[in-house]
Amino acid sequence: MRALQRENLPMKFALLISALTFTALSVLAQTAAAEQVFRSTATNEILDVEGTARRGGRNTVAVKEFMETGVDAYVEVAGCLPLGEAIFVESCSGCHGAVGEGKIGPALNDSVWIYSKNKTDKGIFETIFGGAKGLMAAHGQDIELDDLLKLIAWVRHLQKDDVTNAEWLTAEQKKTFKSFDVQRWKETERPAAEKQQCAFPSK
Ligand code: HEC
Repeated sequence: MRALQRENLPMKFALLISALTFTALSVLAQTAAAEQVFRSTATNEILDVEGTARRGGRNTVAVKEFMETGVDAYVEVAGCLPLGEAIFVESCSGCHGAVGEGKIGPALNDSVWIYSKNKTDKGIFETIFGGAKGLMAAHGQDIELDDLLKLIAWVRHLQKDDVTNAEWLTAEQKKTFKSFDVQRWKETERPAAEKQQCAFPSK
């Protein structure tokens, strides 16, 4: 009996070590990924963003930051707005109107939201990536991740209402934000923005 116990000791030790290693590794894996969990706006099911997003436009600094923090770094980056506008005109304005004023889809340029989570970058991303109800289809398979961030920046820029309670702007951004005006955009803001880069803002 004693002999048996002694024989089993190294075995138990090995088991203990492997259990500890496993725990340590899983903790490490969690911290390394530290990723946001994205959920469908319509069903609340988990969206497999990594697994289903398009291959291109995944490795930009803005996408990596967004995956970790859920914050869209392109919001109010002037150089990204004309690019976001082009995607909006191609894929969204048919239903949401040329400047997001609403058509067969709801307005996106006012402070009224069907889903209050759309006030956050993460929430609106979930709606666009995974779709919502009825005609609001998922766009995660036809628009690259980096382009989705530019598109969200443009939707935010279209805002015409008071932005005091806008969850997508920082306190700093609220100070300089002007309600969208299509004439001002076309005549002065867009020509200036087109000369700038769409890049991750330096802090
Ligand atoms: C075929 C029409 C159609 C197209 C194209 C479309 N949408 Fe929608 N969208 C809708 C409808 C309808 C709803 C309302 C869905 C619901 O109530 O669940 C909606 C809802 C939304 C919402 C939620 C609004 C809220 O008040 O919470 C957002 C954000 C949105 N769409 C963004 C976009 C963007 C960005 C695009 C372009 C990639 C786009 N949509 C393309 C029809 C469309």
